[in-house]
Amino acid sequence: MEKIVLPEIENLHQLDVYLNNGGYTAIRKALSQSPDDIIDQVKKSGLRGRGGAAFSAGLKWSFMPKSTDKPKYLCINGDESEPGSFKDRQVFEFNPHQLIEGALITCYAINARKAYLYIRGEYHKWIKLMQKAIDDAYENGFIGEKMKEKYGTDFSCDLYIHKGAGAYICGEESSLMNSIEGKRGYPRVKPPFPAQNGLWGNPTTINNVETLTNVPPIINKGWEWFASIGEPKHPGTLLFGVSGHVNKPGVYELPSGTLLTDIIYNYAGGVPGNKKIKCVIPGGSSMPPLRGDALEGVKMDAESLRAAGSAIGTGGIMVMDEDTDLVKVLARITKFYYHESCGQCTPCREGTGWMLKLLNRIVDGKGSSKDLDLLISVANNIEGNTVCALGEAAAWPVKFMVTRFRDEFEAQVREKVELEVKNKVHSMRSTETPITNITV
Ligand SMILES: Cc1cc2nc3c(=O)[nH]c(=O)nc-3n(C[C@H](O)[C@H](O)[C@H](O)COP(=O)(O)O)c2cc1C
Ligand code: SF4
Repeated sequence: MEKIVLPEIENLHQLDVYLNNGGYTAIRKALSQSPDDIIDQVKKSGLRGRGGAAFSAGLKWSFMPKSTDKPKYLCINGDESEPGSFKDRQVFEFNPHQLIEGALITCYAINARKAYLYIRGEYHKWIKLMQKAIDDAYENGFIGEKMKEKYGTDFSCDLYIHKGAGAYICGEESSLMNSIEGKRGYPRVKPPFPAQNGLWGNPTTINNVETLTNVPPIINKGWEWFASIGEPKHPGTLLFGVSGHVNKPGVYELPSGTLLTDIIYNYAGGVPGNKKIKCVIPGGSSMPPLRGDALEGVKMDAESLRAAGSAIGTGGIMVMDEDTDLVKVLARITKFYYHESCGQCTPCREGTGWMLKLLNRIVDGKGSSKDLDLLISVANNIEGNTVCALGEAAAWPVKFMVTRFRDEFEAQVREKVELEVKNKVHSMRSTETPITNITV
């Protein structure tokens, strides 16, 4: 595949540098066209959401009702709390104005006059950087009332930052809206969907930070340009955050469809000590893990990963080498989802706790083969039976890790039980207790 080399531009976060590199020309171009034209171009570009579900951005915008007097809103999702996902903060740090411009174009397309940028509360540094960019844009007439004068239209838009308070669940779109409204961050039952009943009951669109940052170049360079990058069914570049056992962890912007092995070995520098890879989670901790011996030919785009038995998620690639204890990894991941469950529905609230108990039992050497089947059964009973997708986020790692690495889980259960028997026999012999009394 042909590689696209993107120029590194120093200080692009500064307004003057962004302007010198063609910044805020896409919004001018967009304002000279109709909102429907913009939606049409984004649809044709094939831009799909970068927040997890890879849903068509243009199609989502087209769901916003046209004939209503109600105010309309855009929510920009920068909650970024999924373990293994750390790419949106690169946008806040290195290219905040492109995100602002993308958000303004989106507001114009969906007829919104207010946008809320929801940023993970722990991102103190990035909140400050983003606020500075917003302030500069306001001062220079790129956001707010002054837009009317600058562009000679009656469109203007305000953009506010809303800080999260440390809850992963507030990244879920309906929970995010409750949080902005000042309510407890409980996900809402859908339908109704946000385009009908969103913020304060009004039509709302929610998109991820990276998704919207792709919009200005689509308007400036044309949808055909964007559609020609990477895999046709999931085009464009993606921000891949690579972490775990690699020599050069970081965020790499590459065309969709880049080989997973290419990213790990050529970009992220391979595995320390040239160890073998045991497991890779390709899209953030909630996505089904892949076996290290099944990575050959796997491409990083939504369709290819689905065919490989996983999902693109947020493109957070977590690499684990041959020495990794996957039982411990799974217990840690499950602890996260147990802790972050909002507790609203029973299968998620109870099931995450049961899975954690079972995994801790295995880690402590007290598990059995039956526990592995029980784990899969609990995961299956969570999946599809909850209000929001945190249920799947908790169930998938358990279900697929235990199924795909059954050999390793079985070995741990056996080894630990055998070791325990040995130890018991040893201590009983030394106290001269009859061996026949042993129960395991
Ligand atoms: C538990 C949970 C957490 C989520 N966290 C995020 C997040 O931090 N950022 C994000 O963009 N989407 C997150 N999502 C997905 C959002 O609900 C929503 O689909 C997304 O923001 C839509 O944007 P997109 O269409 O541009 O991808 C989360 C979903 C769930 C179920
Ligand atoms: S699935 Fe979990 S996080 Fe989502 S609403 Fe139900 S209890 Fe809350």
